[in-house]
Amino acid sequence: MNKSTQVVMFSSKTGEWATPQEFFDKLNWRFGPFDLDPCASPVNTKCANFFTEAEDGMTKSWEGHTVFVNPPYGRGIDKWIQKGYEESRKEETKVVMLIPARTDTKYWHKYVMKADEVYFVKGRLKFGDSENSAPFPSAVICFDGTNRQQIFGAMNR
Ligand SMILES: C[S@@+](CC[C@H](N)C(=O)[O-])C[C@H]1O[C@@H](n2cnc3c(N)ncnc32)[C@H](O)[C@@H]1O
Repeated sequence: MNKSTQVVMFSSKTGEWATPQEFFDKLNWRFGPFDLDPCASPVNTKCANFFTEAEDGMTKSWEGHTVFVNPPYGRGIDKWIQKGYEESRKEETKVVMLIPARTDTKYWHKYVMKADEVYFVKGRLKFGDSENSAPFPSAVICFDGTNRQQIFGAMNR
């Protein structure tokens, strides 16, 4: 893939930061099996059951699912994290999100700090087919609606 294609595919404007398959497999093993990917395209979905931008996963119910969310990384990511938190309050619903570790943002403090589990990824992920590491650190958060003990940890240690 040439540089300009990479810029288009992986820029925060397009939001196409596809989860590395190996990393997804680890999360699927640890938190899954996931049965809904509400932020996807038919090409990059991680689950057979998914919503595209045209269908708008934000407006759909995620109730009853074990959901994997790698949201679009542009403006509006706060709304996806709020949505993940709110959906996880529903019956039998668990929401795991791969997000940039932007620990200074309002949404981090309002929603991520309510997550049941927060893991900081060691190193930088290589999204999609990129040979380059992302220019930001990542975190994996889990809203499981249990409100038990909060867990903070590291991933890829
Ligand atoms: C960061 S990518 C994640 C792709 C894939 N789910 C993965 O984890 O590898 C975010 C995806 O969300 C899609 N998207 C953007 N807005 C959306 C919306 N409102 N509803 C559903 N999907 C949306 C984008 O087209 C993009 O494919």
